[in-house]
Amino acid sequence: MTTSTSASPPSEAPLIDLDRVTRRFALGKVLDPRKRRIVHAVEDVSLSLGPGETLAIVGESGCGKSTLARLAVGLLRPTMGEVRIGGVPAGSRLPRGVRRTVQFVSQNPWSALNRRKSIGHAIGQPLAVHGLGASDAERAARVHELLEQVGLPPEYAERRPGGVSGGELQRATVARALAASPRAIVLDGPTASLDVGVKATLVNLLLDLRESLGLGYVLITHELDIARHLATHVAVMYLGRVVEWGPAEEIFAAPRHPYTRTLLAAIPEPDPARRELPVLTGEVPSAVNPPPGCAFHPRCPYAVDRCAHEMPELVSIGERRSACLRDAELLDIAAAEDG
Ligand SMILES: Nc1ncnc2c1ncn2[C@@H]1O[C@H](COP(=O)(O)OP(=O)(O)O)[C@@H](O)[C@H]1O
Ligand SMILES: [Mg+2]
Repeated sequence: MTTSTSASPPSEAPLIDLDRVTRRFALGKVLDPRKRRIVHAVEDVSLSLGPGETLAIVGESGCGKSTLARLAVGLLRPTMGEVRIGGVPAGSRLPRGVRRTVQFVSQNPWSALNRRKSIGHAIGQPLAVHGLGASDAERAARVHELLEQVGLPPEYAERRPGGVSGGELQRATVARALAASPRAIVLDGPTASLDVGVKATLVNLLLDLRESLGLGYVLITHELDIARHLATHVAVMYLGRVVEWGPAEEIFAAPRHPYTRTLLAAIPEPDPARRELPVLTGEVPSAVNPPPGCAFHPRCPYAVDRCAHEMPELVSIGERRSACLRDAELLDIAAAEDG
């Protein structure tokens, strides 16, 4: 036995670490390589999640958030680059204790749980898979404890997914994720299918669990008010790339990238029907043929000629990173507008 199989992840390693990760999908079964169409779902993304952090990933539909989420938990392999979970490359056989450190909660709790099995069975499954709990009785007791942790009564263990509300079912999927005793949970649009009041309950549950268990979250959402409520860090994606990444407080107070500014312009919107992303001018370009240079340039109010030719790098400015060729100039413009 090598030491790496039994060692727990070093505490200083990020829980999740994406190192220049690219994921492309080939469309159709076209034999002629000149006609093959490639979707650039995630391009050259580097991000990390530290213990206890909540990293919100925001951006319009189709920008690669779900693909990134599945890469981050090892459900999908990168085309290029490396994903590390607890410092261990996700492509290799992860030691058991490392594999369960990151769990996944999807947008749709109905598709996540088997309709023919009880909720207790679903929550207990990870216990069996990861060899947690010595006996059936011990596992049943743990299932009740997990239900309590997410605010559901113990008798819910006997219910089927069809017999509970959407909000309760989403809490059950969170309980199932917790069963593995993870250090981080990747949540892909956890509130997307829920009504407003139920959303708030789930957000509060996530806050409580973060506090009591010291959990890290990767929170994929296009609801910016929820990101603002929960996130310690924010990454903004546009057409598969991260255009801005940094401490949430800084980004919400002073968005730096032109795309982030357009997104955040929509936050103080009291009408819930319009709380989705703002309507930017123009369409999101195709991920099959992303625009050359900065992919945002066709829709950017600040674009100049060179934005159409040069690809901006994600550059560090203090703790913040932003990928805009005109970053320094735009700061001056923003200062002038404020003054
Ligand atoms: N399995 C797949 N095969 C082909 N294209 C895919 C696949 N999964 C995602 N895509 C494409 O990759 C891009 C990013 O998708 P996705 O990660 O689902 O974005 P988001 O979650 O931000 O809406 C989209 O253009 C989508 O159509
Ligand atoms: Mg998605």
